[in-house]
Amino acid sequence: MDWDAFFTLHDGLPREGPGCPEDVHWAIGVAGTHGEARVCDAGCGPGADTETLAEALPDAWIDAVDLHGPFAAATAARCARFGPRVKAWQGDMGTLSGPYDLIWCAGALYFLGVTEGLTAMRPMLTRAGRVAFSEPVLLGGKETQALRDFWEEYPGITDRAGIERRISAAGYRTFDTRLIVGAPWEAYYLPMERRIAELRAEGVPETVEQALREGEREIANWRAASGRIAYLLSVVAPE
Ligand SMILES: C[S@@+](CC[C@H](N)C(=O)[O-])C[C@H]1O[C@@H](n2cnc3c(N)ncnc32)[C@H](O)[C@@H]1O
Repeated sequence: MDWDAFFTLHDGLPREGPGCPEDVHWAIGVAGTHGEARVCDAGCGPGADTETLAEALPDAWIDAVDLHGPFAAATAARCARFGPRVKAWQGDMGTLSGPYDLIWCAGALYFLGVTEGLTAMRPMLTRAGRVAFSEPVLLGGKETQALRDFWEEYPGITDRAGIERRISAAGYRTFDTRLIVGAPWEAYYLPMERRIAELRAEGVPETVEQALREGEREIANWRAASGRIAYLLSVVAPE
């Protein structure tokens, strides 16, 4: 993977994974987060969900952290209108101090592993703290080539029961789950498709062209199996 080429394609996209504001609102409702809550957007990307969290929780204090500095900077710029109650910085979500009433982690926990990530987050939570995270999930049924190709870089993908086992192995219980399928993926892929067309029109070196082709292949595989490509959003807490 040529990371410079990858980020040429990805920097400037509104979000870095599937999701929509309704997912954030749903998780806040299940978690019961309210008032002057302390919230973390772990692996915030360019801050689409940080913004939704800040709007939905007008009195909350929100930290947003991402390993990729330009994403953290984009989140800080996007959320500047909320003033000091929203802070974004480049950092590792596995080593935060907290404590947080809610850790929101959209499409990022698999970088640590579900069990490992939840274990690392336990000391970052308040006594009634919750984690809401989304994770690739297999829905069952016939495995098509497009589905296999789509998930080829995530061999650890499992089904709902497998995710539940990983949650239990960290000593957490699940309050509720919701599937992320269809429209929330469009929110990720349609802007990426436009960005690919813009970069092509500008003219790019071969390394970037390769990243564009890779992006197109991913989008084509998603289109071919879009009803079966899903994340499971889970709201969990330590037992
Ligand atoms: C698939 S993207 C999702 C980004 C964002 N949550 C969204 O939905 O737009 C995953 C993000 O996790 C970040 N990431 C990966 N490992 C991380 C870590 N240990 N600490 C903080 N961020 C991490 C990546 O840089 C990337 O921005």
